[in-house]
Amino acid sequence: MLDVVFLAMFAIVPVLAFSLYAVKSKLRYSLHKSLQLTLGIVLLVAVTAFEVDMRFFTDWEARAVGSPYYSADSWSGVWISLAVHLFFAIPTLVLWIVVLTAALRKFPTPPTPGNHSATHKKLGWLAALGMTLTALTGWIFYWMAFVA
Ligand code: HEM
Repeated sequence: MLDVVFLAMFAIVPVLAFSLYAVKSKLRYSLHKSLQLTLGIVLLVAVTAFEVDMRFFTDWEARAVGSPYYSADSWSGVWISLAVHLFFAIPTLVLWIVVLTAALRKFPTPPTPGNHSATHKKLGWLAALGMTLTALTGWIFYWMAFVA
């Protein structure tokens, strides 16, 4: 699952960028809605599968012992990179749920700009930035723990 999520993040960031391009320059609101909902569902399934795998099946620490950045019983590069990654990943997950549910409740169907636009744009850009930083810090953790 670590490898699957690592690779999935390479697809998610360009799709997110395309979705924002669609809404910004071509005013294709319905396409933006479908892409964001698909990304949200894919991320939720991936995060759940990942958590189940990490809690019950895979001992990631055993796989990181060969890394020069890993130490089992003291702070090391791997632990710091994991802490930085979680610092972005956990708030971003909450923010995505908030942005998605508010957008579904407050925009009409089919979606068009309205009273909710200003709030949605602010939180939407924050959510997109959070997801990009989550991907970047996740790749750094993966490289430090399992590749280096
Ligand atoms: C986590 C999911 C989502 C994120 C991160 C997101 C992000 C964004 C961002 C950053 C913008 C502003 C683009 C700009 O600067 O012009 C935007 C615009 C918009 N989004 Fe989303 N969005 C999400 C989900 C949705 C959903 C589910 C809907 C529809 C139900 C939706 C409908 C819209 C609409 C109508 C606009 C245009 C607002 C306007 O220009 O006044 N978004 N979105």
